[in-house]
Amino acid sequence: MRRASLLLFLAACGSSDAPPLRTPDLQVLTDTNPDPDIVEVALVAAPTTLELLDGKPAEVWAFRDGAAADATASIPGPMLEAKLGDRVIVHFRNELPEGTTIHWHGLRVPNAADGTPASQMPVAPGSTYDYEMEIVDTGLFWYHPHVNGEVQVERGLYAPVLVHGGVEPAVAADRVFVLDDVKLSASGALSTQTNALDLMLGRQGNVVLVNGKQAPELVAVAGSRERWRFVNAANGRYFRLELPGHTFRVIGWDGGLVNAPYETERVLIAPGERYDVLVDLGGDPGDALALRTVHYDRGHDIPDPGPIELLAITLGEAGEPPGALPTTWGDVAPIATEASTPRRMFLLQEDDTDPTSPVFTINGEAFPDITPLTGAPGDIEIWEIHNMSEMDHPFHLHGMSFQLLDEPGGWKDTVNVPRMSPLAVAVELGGPGRWMYHCHILEHAERGMMGELEVADAP
Ligand code: C2O
Ligand code: CU
Repeated sequence: MRRASLLLFLAACGSSDAPPLRTPDLQVLTDTNPDPDIVEVALVAAPTTLELLDGKPAEVWAFRDGAAADATASIPGPMLEAKLGDRVIVHFRNELPEGTTIHWHGLRVPNAADGTPASQMPVAPGSTYDYEMEIVDTGLFWYHPHVNGEVQVERGLYAPVLVHGGVEPAVAADRVFVLDDVKLSASGALSTQTNALDLMLGRQGNVVLVNGKQAPELVAVAGSRERWRFVNAANGRYFRLELPGHTFRVIGWDGGLVNAPYETERVLIAPGERYDVLVDLGGDPGDALALRTVHYDRGHDIPDPGPIELLAITLGEAGEPPGALPTTWGDVAPIATEASTPRRMFLLQEDDTDPTSPVFTINGEAFPDITPLTGAPGDIEIWEIHNMSEMDHPFHLHGMSFQLLDEPGGWKDTVNVPRMSPLAVAVELGGPGRWMYHCHILEHAERGMMGELEVADAP
């Protein structure tokens, strides 16, 4: 281990393409395995006390590194970092007072490692479970429990997964931003009050967090190009990002780089989704920039709180201007669909006859009372998702990625389906096992908007 880090250090000093800056607020899980192609980590979920607002301790549930003796729990939890082709082994221990699992959102893992009640028994308090997977995707993913999700994730159990590999554009900094919001009482404690709007729209907090902090600050090199990767870990809040005076070049989505990057002024990120962007930070040393989220109308007259600042960026000394961009990006081959490709329909509906206990259904069924879908590995299907409700729903599928029929040049595992609209995706069924699909507004998933796809064993 020592030698490896010394070599890395020397390599960093000696070469002009030194590893870019890391986001300071994130911890990284300790890899205890000396094999460079195996990442072996220990992870603990436990109740703890953390300050989400300075000087105001809150009782939370959080992950901590189980392999570092002096590790403290954090929100987000420690990042799992690996590279394409690695074998990852996670020794997980549950110190929570209730059962839990860990789901590796977006990673195509074997079913036994998918971390849902469809693929494993919840890990009982005081028990352990080993997750083992081969990393076959690059980009930003995340991990979170898949039991009582609206409570466990809300209390702080979520963390990023960063997989290196493939085309890596030269940047001055490669930063991961985990977005969330929390509903805090005046004391700084997590509020346990849930109102009808929370149930209907997914709980929205009154404090927005970036890597666990309210509007953190960072200093960037004036005129440099940075890579920012975002994951929306909130229960219900949508983030619509803008950096006034600047544009984003979207280079990747959920499951890796897109084939054709595009420029945009705003990036909408629904719960569960990830976006990977380049920003050229033009301006003079001393300039202050603000990354903020602006209102997105996702239905049911959701109130507009006005722009919320997410990140305060100060430009430092000017550096080298950014170099040329790569000429190739993702290499996603379109899933071959044709007129005869089988289609499945998914009707997303809400029933708010009793606003204190709304029910959300897919094809008229509310989880767990559902009929699992069945298929075989390699089957190609078109999934037509019809949102028949008065609000948007981010649709997420486990175990395999899909492509938007309209924009096939990228992998998605979570996609926003706007209210009263249809959206079609192409899916090639993945490995055998029971895979869940659901709305990633966790209050909706926990109130019925969830189903299962059973992929048969390969013949
Ligand atoms: Cu991010 Cu089924 O979950
Ligand atoms: Cu929903």
